[in-house]
Amino acid sequence: MSPYFQVKTRVLYKYYVALLIWVLLISSTTNRVEGRRTEEGSLVNRHPTVSYKAVNCRKHSAVVTEFGAKGDGKTLNTKAFKSAINHLSKFALDGGAQLIVPPGRWLTGSFSLISHFTLFLHKDAVLLASQNNYIVSGDDCIAIKSGWDEYGIRFNMPTQHVIIRHLTCISPTSATIALGSEMSGGIRNIRAEHITAIDTESGVRIKSSPGRGAYVKDIFVRKMTMKTMKYVFWMTGYYQSDPDPYFNPHALPIIEDINYMDMVAENVSMPGYLEGIKGDVFKGICMSNVTIGLARQPMEMLWNCTNVEGVTNRVKPQPCGLLREDENVVECPFPKDRLPIEEVEFKNCLAPLVAYNKVVIIALLSVIILQNINLVYSRTVRVLDDGMIPKGCRKHGAFLTDFGGVGDGKTSNTKAFRAAIASLSQYGSDGGSELIVPPGKWLTGSFNLTSNFTLYLDKNAVLIASKDESEWPVLPPLPSYGRGRDAPAGRFASLIFGTNLTDVVITGGNATIDGQGAYWWGKFKKKELDLTRPYLIEIMFSDQVQIFNLTLLNSPSWNVHPVYSSNVIVQGLTIIAPVDSPNTDGINPDSCTNVRIEDNYIVSGDDCIAVKSGWDEYGIKFGMPTQHVNIRRLTCISPDSATIALGSEMSGGIQDIRAEQITAINTESGVRIKTAPGRGAYVKDIFVQDMTLKTMKYVFWMTGDYGSHPDPGFDPKSLPVISGINYRDVTADDVQMSGNLAGIENDKFTGICFSNVTITLAEKHQKVQWNCSNIEGSSSGVNPQACDLLPDKQPGKSVPCPFPTDKLAIDDVELKVCSIRPKPPRN
Ligand SMILES: *[C@@H]1O[C@H](CO)[C@@H](O)[C@H](O)[C@H]1NC(C)=O
Ligand SMILES: *[C@@H]1O[C@H](CO)[C@@H](O)[C@H](O)[C@H]1NC(C)=O
Ligand SMILES: *[C@@H]1O[C@H](CO)[C@@H](O)[C@H](O)[C@H]1NC(C)=O
Ligand SMILES: *[C@@H]1O[C@H](CO)[C@@H](O)[C@H](O)[C@H]1NC(C)=O
Ligand SMILES: *[C@@H]1O[C@H](CO)[C@@H](O)[C@H](O)[C@H]1NC(C)=O
Ligand SMILES: *[C@@H]1O[C@H](CO)[C@@H](O)[C@H](O)[C@H]1NC(C)=O
Ligand SMILES: *[C@@H]1O[C@H](CO)[C@@H](O)[C@H](O)[C@H]1NC(C)=O
Ligand SMILES: *[C@@H]1O[C@H](CO)[C@@H](O)[C@H](O)[C@H]1NC(C)=O
Ligand SMILES: *[C@@H]1O[C@H](CO)[C@@H](O)[C@H](O)[C@H]1NC(C)=O
Ligand SMILES: *[C@@H]1O[C@H](CO)[C@@H](O)[C@H](O)[C@H]1NC(C)=O
Repeated sequence: MSPYFQVKTRVLYKYYVALLIWVLLISSTTNRVEGRRTEEGSLVNRHPTVSYKAVNCRKHSAVVTEFGAKGDGKTLNTKAFKSAINHLSKFALDGGAQLIVPPGRWLTGSFSLISHFTLFLHKDAVLLASQNNYIVSGDDCIAIKSGWDEYGIRFNMPTQHVIIRHLTCISPTSATIALGSEMSGGIRNIRAEHITAIDTESGVRIKSSPGRGAYVKDIFVRKMTMKTMKYVFWMTGYYQSDPDPYFNPHALPIIEDINYMDMVAENVSMPGYLEGIKGDVFKGICMSNVTIGLARQPMEMLWNCTNVEGVTNRVKPQPCGLLREDENVVECPFPKDRLPIEEVEFKNCLAPLVAYNKVVIIALLSVIILQNINLVYSRTVRVLDDGMIPKGCRKHGAFLTDFGGVGDGKTSNTKAFRAAIASLSQYGSDGGSELIVPPGKWLTGSFNLTSNFTLYLDKNAVLIASKDESEWPVLPPLPSYGRGRDAPAGRFASLIFGTNLTDVVITGGNATIDGQGAYWWGKFKKKELDLTRPYLIEIMFSDQVQIFNLTLLNSPSWNVHPVYSSNVIVQGLTIIAPVDSPNTDGINPDSCTNVRIEDNYIVSGDDCIAVKSGWDEYGIKFGMPTQHVNIRRLTCISPDSATIALGSEMSGGIQDIRAEQITAINTESGVRIKTAPGRGAYVKDIFVQDMTLKTMKYVFWMTGDYGSHPDPGFDPKSLPVISGINYRDVTADDVQMSGNLAGIENDKFTGICFSNVTITLAEKHQKVQWNCSNIEGSSSGVNPQACDLLPDKQPGKSVPCPFPTDKLAIDDVELKVCSIRPKPPRN
């Protein structure tokens, strides 16, 4: 299931092509080839019908030890193989050449073969793929495929008539032989026998999914020996992993006639996990003469079968009911005919220096799937194998260190970041890319992201924002603000900046981004800045933005600012700044649509979350609202600010904001509305439920005269419309004042609703608990009782304020979590 970097896949390819096919063919000629070398170097075969000519022998040959190779299992022989093949390549047009690998354990990286060439491994020679720790898991030893969903269906080219023999596989997290998951051209007539698997996840596994279409049928497996397996039998009908959303979920694969016989397995956790597709039963499954020994602690359920049907005979332990025991099935079928490929003659030449006159025995081929990158291919960009990109992973990837990054906390990495992302940006339309920041302290100035891109910070990586202002480009003011928030002129680009992007992910194993804010706060307080301070993360004019699993410390100003963007997820952030630091807002969605903000923990000097949409005449003109926002499971500490502020910049409008499971401690107010004449637009359809507050100045606070204008050009007659503001199920302890609700004269805030609110006052609390002006609405079950402008119309009865029951589109979007992440290179 795990993807490979393509580099490695190609390496494996070479092993498969050069060795597996070799083994396959040699095995098909076993018992037929028995020859001895004549003086002329030709072979005379004793078998009456087959004769082998010298043409199958290569004229030139060499032994790999002549090129310095050592078969001790430790010495890396890549160079020896390469120089040997290089040396032999000059004989390509002069009778060809043969490279002999004597008995031994030959560790090697990838090497390329040439034409007119034989690689001959002595039966006691084992090639070991060189190992290095980029990727912790392997994948299927053999995977038979035929295209992916709608593309494979359209291309319609099956894989069929395949023989696999004498395979030995070790792959702890994958299958010995996988059929699929890409099988949309169809897979049929596959014969596997004499298969050995050790410490492997499963035997011959079927992987498919609705959307794949086509079929997997006429599969025959016999004589399989397994040890230390998770599953012996595994079929997966919901493998998913689709190329794009355009597959047809009604294209159901047909899985039938899958036959297994004569199998022995030891130390197995679960004999069978067989999951067909609902309404599309996997049928014609047959198992006979199968003996499975269980591991010391097997799974509780030995067979888990759904939507499958078939028959069994002499299978131990007893299979599930869907695989009915049938006395008549003495053995499952295995075809007796031969496939055309079996008639192809193997270019067999008995090694001139290691002569045999006995049957050639197949070298035990250990396909030990380990790692081998960088030996042949580019150092900078590694590529995931096509068609195997798991959810959330990008096809291309690189490390910051590939671009000269130095993680010593002192060297500036601004150039490295910019170069890395500029280089990776070329893969935007080819599966996208990921930049991995390895463990270390990475000092950097501002850099820009690209589309179809993931910035991934290792859990032990710390990004440190540079204090060198020359490393921060200057951007013009935001069009909906008209000026910078700190100063009229431009603004420093944020540390991590992106504009006009689609599909960008910023994440890490809760790694830290340190803004070194003290430098900027000091200059701001001393009014030494004529530009607006940078934010930590700002993404503009973008779609599909995900920011999760990070710790943000000491931002110079706002922490996370998605602006003019859609489909934004901000999740699992820990945001910390001193509670007296200026404008260190946590998360500020600004003129954004479809936003999900979940599971964040914020301690800051300003609003933990501030929902915004532009400022006075600039925001009105720009006219881009923030709407359809879900905020859940927020924990906030901000003694001088709001848990969630709506505004004060709201001149593009704010609508359909839903907040629930909100906790605040030692915070000035709960969900606060801030606006002023001149702002125009609206704040409406706001829903808050399940809020737990402790040590608060105000529980509810609405401010109609917030002031703060960009310039004198605002129109004081542009009055905001505030309506439909709903709060329910609120508990607050240690409160100074319950509600301070001030609308605007001649512009009442309407449709204000409070229900099921329980407030416990602090020892030192305001005498007047509710101070209401220019508002209109109702309350139910509010204690202390709300002001007269919010009457309880049915006292004693609980009338809940509304909260939407539908989902937002963003609720169904999954985080792009990629679990396959190579370890950084060793230095
Ligand atoms: C059996 O399998 C477990 C893993 O499931 C492994 O740790 C153990 O070494 C195996 N035992 C033997 C005897 O191979
Ligand atoms: C059952 O399978 C085992 C293992 O492959 C084999 O040795 C044995 O001969 C088989 N028994 C029959 C009756 O075919
Ligand atoms: C059995 O398989 C079904 C379908 O895959 C799965 O939902 C269920 O959790 C499995 N049960 C056990 C006990 O593993
Ligand atoms: C991002 O990937 C999608 C889907 O593969 C593609 O359609 C789009 O063109 C890519 N965007 C860019 C900017 O390369
Ligand atoms: C980042 O993008 C902005 C806007 O396109 C541009 O002004 C700025 O120069 C870019 N920064 C870098 C380092 O290229
Ligand atoms: C980004 O998108 C906005 C809005 O579509 C557009 O006005 C602007 O020109 C684009 N900027 C760039 C650098 O493409
Ligand atoms: C976040 O990081 C933690 C720690 O590395 C990890 O366990 C968790 O799975 C990550 N969550 C996501 C959504 O990536
Ligand atoms: C992330 O790191 C912060 C600070 O180091 C820590 O307080 C928080 O618990 C961590 N979160 C997760 C999910 O590990
Ligand atoms: C009132 O709110 C509390 C939480 O503050 C909740 O536990 C309780 O179930 C709510 N009561 C009703 C009737 O909804
Ligand atoms: C109540 O609010 C009004 C309008 O904001 C203010 O002028 C007044 O001083 C407040 N009264 C108290 C007692 O806080």
